[in-house]
Amino acid sequence: MKHLLGLNGVSKDEITQILADAFEMKKLLQKEKKKSDLLSGKSIITLFFENSTRTRLSFELASKYLGATAANIAASGSSVAKGETTIDTAKTIDHMAADVIVIRHSSSGAPHMLTNYTDAAIVNAGDGMHEHPTQALLDLMTMEEKKGSLAGLKVAIVGDVKHSRVARSNIYGLHTMGAEVVLAGPSTLMPAEIEALGVKAYYDVQKAIEGADVVMGLRIQLERQKKGLFPTVREYHKYFGINKERMKLAKPDAILMHPGPVNRGVELSADIVDGEQSVICEQVTNGVCVRMAVLNLLAGNQPLVKID
Ligand code: CP
Repeated sequence: MKHLLGLNGVSKDEITQILADAFEMKKLLQKEKKKSDLLSGKSIITLFFENSTRTRLSFELASKYLGATAANIAASGSSVAKGETTIDTAKTIDHMAADVIVIRHSSSGAPHMLTNYTDAAIVNAGDGMHEHPTQALLDLMTMEEKKGSLAGLKVAIVGDVKHSRVARSNIYGLHTMGAEVVLAGPSTLMPAEIEALGVKAYYDVQKAIEGADVVMGLRIQLERQKKGLFPTVREYHKYFGINKERMKLAKPDAILMHPGPVNRGVELSADIVDGEQSVICEQVTNGVCVRMAVLNLLAGNQPLVKID
């Protein structure tokens, strides 16, 4: 794998390798001295054209824990704000000998486009409504950690599927690993052709959650309400919000996930965000581990774990 642009087309073997390496990276993260020289001499640039806390910080920490030289550019503080194009920005970074460029952009396909203008490996940190592959990988890692195996799991994804790059990457990754994916959300937030991806779409959240091993809420982008895609936040929560009662429909040992940031009381009732079934904090930790594994592999190093 030269780049990580999405999980569509990434094989089961490749996902298995990344997850195995991520679990190995977790051992390093749990040490008092979180330092390795695996990426010593490598330069990693994170280029964020959209806001981020988890993804940006975890890529930066992952780079530093592995000994890389890491630098970050945010659109607002860079020459992008003076009108420089994304391509010219990428070419500029390329001439500073970057080994890996991590990019988040509001336009679907922006990371793919950059592959034509730089020799660096490109990692998609979320592009428009397309994909967010490292988020899905950290979600898979968390599911595997909590459930032992991904094959055969029933994963219910609830919310704004239409605009969600997290949902799309999870659908691709979970299918590849043999899990079943069901979706629920308002019809205005569900893409018409989504079942062509091999998922079942419900407009009744209860039906989707019934018997699930994993329940994943998606962030509702509140600006969608202004565009009339759902009447009010209160009504969204009443019909599609995940709460204690609805979680009882899932398997007794089901876990609750959310990519963050959470709108408490909208996608999830405030009490279950911090409840016993929530693994949202573990997702954040595993995000660093997955990004350490991805950066290590894309920088050209050998995998940490040998898989037969
Ligand atoms: N889940 C996620 O991508 O969060 P950030 O926007 O904070 O990076």
